[in-house]
Amino acid sequence: MSNKPFLNTIISPSLLDLYEIKESLFVVIDVFRATSTFAVALYNGAKSIIPTDSVEECIRIGQLTDGITAGERDGVIIEGLNHGNSPSEYPRDFIENKTLVITTTNGTKLLHQSLEKGVHQIITGSFPNLNSVVRYIIQQNRNVYLACAGWKNRFNIEDTLFAGAVIEQVRDHFTIQCDSSLMAENLYLRHKNNLANFIQKTTHWHRLSRYGLENDMLTCISLNIADCLPFFQNDKLIKQNF
Ligand code: MLT
Repeated sequence: MSNKPFLNTIISPSLLDLYEIKESLFVVIDVFRATSTFAVALYNGAKSIIPTDSVEECIRIGQLTDGITAGERDGVIIEGLNHGNSPSEYPRDFIENKTLVITTTNGTKLLHQSLEKGVHQIITGSFPNLNSVVRYIIQQNRNVYLACAGWKNRFNIEDTLFAGAVIEQVRDHFTIQCDSSLMAENLYLRHKNNLANFIQKTTHWHRLSRYGLENDMLTCISLNIADCLPFFQNDKLIKQNF
């Protein structure tokens, strides 16, 4: 039996209770668009990102921290918040040194669920920060869960594809005896040279296309354009140097 740490992929938050997650390192994944937006905002110098699980909490913490309030439900900006969940809304000349307080349909919810379940370490992953995720989880030498936010507990393709992209690069460093991981890697290998085409068949592509957000989604599948490590600590995501 190999003594390499285990790596598993959880394809929906509704499956969290089936896994022994307490002492593990969690990679929370919400490719369209929350974790891609986190990577871009932190890469562009955001001081921190405070993910909240309700709109009321977002507004309350926004006032306390003098932060930028942002978020969406079902892909649409929420009344009462100043910004949405588009990576393009957070260029350096806007976000540098500011606190972003954000609530989203699935991504921020999964961050809070992970915290409540006592996960040891939580980072966020997306194609824009793929390399940092890969380097960090190899370096930690600890059991890893690639935790997909999905859509309202349903499976989605884009988060699973990202899990596959990670697995392609880390597989020699982990014990992987997990059918979801096997599926994720195979799916990614099959489509990696044609991601932009494949992704246009997904449910969330159709959902967000109704609001003209195609460019957002293309940004969200661009590899390593915001390569940093968002680390969830004391209720905040901060850019971790490692
Ligand atoms: C989410 O957290 O559900 C997403 O990021 C939704 C989106 O804004 O596309």
